[in-house]
Amino acid sequence: MRIILLGAPGTGKGTQGKFITEKYNIPQISTGDMLRKSINSNNQIGIIIKNIIEEGKLVSDKIVCNLIKKRIKKKDCINGFLLDGFPRTIEQAFYLTKNKIKIDYVLEFMMPHKTILERISGRRIHAQSGRIYHIKFNPPKNKNKDDLTGEPLIIREDDKKKSVEKRLEEYKKTHYPLVNYYINQNKIGNIKFFQINAMHELLLIKKKVELILKT
Ligand code: AP5
Repeated sequence: MRIILLGAPGTGKGTQGKFITEKYNIPQISTGDMLRKSINSNNQIGIIIKNIIEEGKLVSDKIVCNLIKKRIKKKDCINGFLLDGFPRTIEQAFYLTKNKIKIDYVLEFMMPHKTILERISGRRIHAQSGRIYHIKFNPPKNKNKDDLTGEPLIIREDDKKKSVEKRLEEYKKTHYPLVNYYINQNKIGNIKFFQINAMHELLLIKKKVELILKT
């Protein structure tokens, strides 16, 4: 099972990705999480990446394709993987195709951009594990504490209003060619492409995704 999740920031890729990977026992490969971890190493590249992410811009195709190349060679990908936030540009999609990395499903999460800020402004994460919460829609059992470890939850640096607006702008620039590419791949039978209304309640989306992945 090899799955790609597409969608603007805050549409629920990370949240639904967690459900899917637990059910199918495959790794969730989030380029965002991987890049955020590389910032912690505090080397020259880490500093460059930190600035790009906080400005809401995209990291270069070369850097992210290299991350993916190394990650999917790992043993835990043998039965499949879920790509969360990759590909983000048509060049990244071509990278997969050129390298004959076959994908089974591409799911696109869709919601109006004006509602995205509410989603993102309430997001809290557990930095070490990447577990995602929302103060209103998916609150932790204890305020601002991770359910499993009890450690404090944080707000992502790029979840500030200005960064989110820039991320949405970037998304608009790259989104159409990418989605059109997968719509065409679906037509010629190379992948299965589905669009999902991300405005629905979390568990309803989870059920819809489970049904799709049975087709
Ligand atoms: P990344 O970490 O991938 O961020 P993103 O794509 O902007 O997506 P988000 O993580 O913001 O949102 P999500 O869709 O996962 O939503 P979530 O499930 O958290 O990338 C960050 C940065 O890294 C990029 O800006 C870029 O700089 C760089 N980068 C990453 N990949 C790259 C690439 N391939 N190429 C170049 N640069 C790259 O949900 C959001 C909130 O809503 C949560 O609080 C959640 O609890 C809540 N929620 C979820 N679903 C629902 C629901 N149905 N109802 C109510 N609330 C919900």
